[in-house]
Amino acid sequence: MQKRFSFVIIITAIAITGIIISQSFWVANALVTKDDQLHENVGLGLKRVVNQLMALQNDTALASRYLVTRSHASLHSQFIRSLKPELITQLITSEFQSLEIMRAYDYGIYERENHHFILISNQGLKEELINSRHQEHISCVFQTEQFYLTVYFPHEQRYIFNEMLLYILLSVLFVLIVISGFWYVTRSLFLQKKLAAIRTDYVNNMTHELKTPIATISVTSEMLLKPEVQARKDKVDHYAKIIYNETQRLKNQADQVLQVAVLERGEYKINPEAVDVHQLIEQLTESLRVTIKNRNGVIQTRLNAANQIVEADKNHLTNVLSNLMENANKYSPDPPHIIISTHSTPKGIIISCQDKGIGIAEEYFHYIFKKFHRIPTGDVHDVKGFGIGLYYVKTIVEAHAGTIQVKSKPGEGSNFIVYWPFYAPTHTTLE
Ligand SMILES: Nc1ncnc2c1ncn2[C@@H]1O[C@H](COP(=O)(O)OP(=O)(O)OP(=O)(O)O)[C@@H](O)[C@H]1O
Ligand SMILES: [Mg+2]
Repeated sequence: MQKRFSFVIIITAIAITGIIISQSFWVANALVTKDDQLHENVGLGLKRVVNQLMALQNDTALASRYLVTRSHASLHSQFIRSLKPELITQLITSEFQSLEIMRAYDYGIYERENHHFILISNQGLKEELINSRHQEHISCVFQTEQFYLTVYFPHEQRYIFNEMLLYILLSVLFVLIVISGFWYVTRSLFLQKKLAAIRTDYVNNMTHELKTPIATISVTSEMLLKPEVQARKDKVDHYAKIIYNETQRLKNQADQVLQVAVLERGEYKINPEAVDVHQLIEQLTESLRVTIKNRNGVIQTRLNAANQIVEADKNHLTNVLSNLMENANKYSPDPPHIIISTHSTPKGIIISCQDKGIGIAEEYFHYIFKKFHRIPTGDVHDVKGFGIGLYYVKTIVEAHAGTIQVKSKPGEGSNFIVYWPFYAPTHTTLE
């Protein structure tokens, strides 16, 4: 299966590269063809102009109307030298029009021998006109002088390119669509595979970890049922406490399963109820305090919000806060100093979780909220994680129409600020 996927992906990538190459080839080819076509058409137009000039030269009666001087019109050179610019313009324009060459041009008639211009539409373009590829010999069999009619189009290459621009843009657009589609599909495929691997990991871990509390609870409750144990209150207390702690562990594990479930695509409903945020924070801080104390750290609360009741899915909100607090602890290599604070806004509550840990560089602010993204820092390699915590947090916060932002500087610590509106949106489903 794995091999077949890789094979199909490689073949498709090769095919796309092939399409891009052949498409570029066709575009280049079309440009050349267009260019040749123009050259041919212009050549044809110039030939016709020259033919008409020759006809004029032979028809003295007709010529006399257009010529500056009538004398010596029989000599080819005299004829050419006495041509009026308006006549040439008129001839070229009408020929070009009939050939559908609709663009600005400059023209000239010059002697091949000494590059002397007899007529020129723009004095500044002598070089260009002499070097132009559109030229036609104004021939006369017995004449030694060689006159050439030449035409020059300003920005000719760009003009041809512009004419093809729509075609080129469409090709680029379609190729881009195909590439992004391919990239998207391949990426989702790999993401799905990664997700599947992580889920298997989770399930294996979970099954293993569920066994321990269940076994403990089972043994302890059995003890509790014994009359000699029931007779002693201290023992009952002791066993009850064990059962309580183990059920808490079970509950945490169930919450973790909930987090993974959010990663799955598909609709996933939240069940809003009134939650006291301050109470929740106090509970969470209490359970984290032991860990923090063991690391010689402190965790403080500054609960300043005037209204601390929000509509929220309690399980998810608990997970959101504990994720942030866990991160604050996890990413503080020195004794942690964590401050959880709240304050009110007109429509909701702002909860911030601040630490003095390793901090996050600004370029990663966006990245850390994505699925499976962890900052690749050498010294956090020993910190375990799947890179789903903040993705989960953001998903849940946004499902409740809230927002989350991070302020942080490497080495100084991080501050995650959650805005949680008082009222949950009526129809909320997670993506
Ligand atoms: N408070 C923090 N200080 C410094 N870096 C942080 C902090 N919180 C998150 N990060 C960085 O953001 C990354 C993503 O965090 P996230 O909670 O999504 O994943 P994780 O903690 O690595 O794993 P998980 O939460 O899934 O067990 C972390 O790997 C870490 O690099
Ligand atoms: Mg985390």
